[in-house]
Amino acid sequence: MIQRTLSIVKPDGVRKGVIGQVVSRFEKAGIRIVAMQMRQLNRKDAEGFYAVHSERPFFGELCEFMTSGPVVVMVLEGEDVIALNRELMGATDPKKAAPGTIRADFADSIGENIAHGSDAPETAAVEIAWFFRGLDIVS
Ligand code: CMP
Repeated sequence: MIQRTLSIVKPDGVRKGVIGQVVSRFEKAGIRIVAMQMRQLNRKDAEGFYAVHSERPFFGELCEFMTSGPVVVMVLEGEDVIALNRELMGATDPKKAAPGTIRADFADSIGENIAHGSDAPETAAVEIAWFFRGLDIVS
């Protein structure tokens, strides 16, 4: 099934200069990028986006990190792209991520893990709408 998912290159990915390498992995996997923007999140943006994690002990740290520099937010489109993106990223904890995945290759820690990807169709729809209006996405 053709799906869409939200991808974020987090502040550590931008600082390390690996935006291009992350995007390149998506393109090599046949994924289409149908929307893309660079933006600096403020505290409210980060807290709203990660609201499902608000009760977690790492919530404050997560929001601090996500506002520590610009991020690149993308809508990815393709066959089963939600799972494919998660496969390309690897496990949340880079120490557990399979070799050759984005997080295994570029990430330092579970908190600073280079990339975010929606985990299911419902969350993808909510997360895409958080950042993009319909008109901002090409078809
Ligand atoms: P992400 O896929 O963006 O969704 C929630 C994020 O919380 C996750 O990636 C991690 O970067 C972060 N996270 C998860 N567990 C921890 C943790 N134990 N400590 C700090 N951050 C975490």
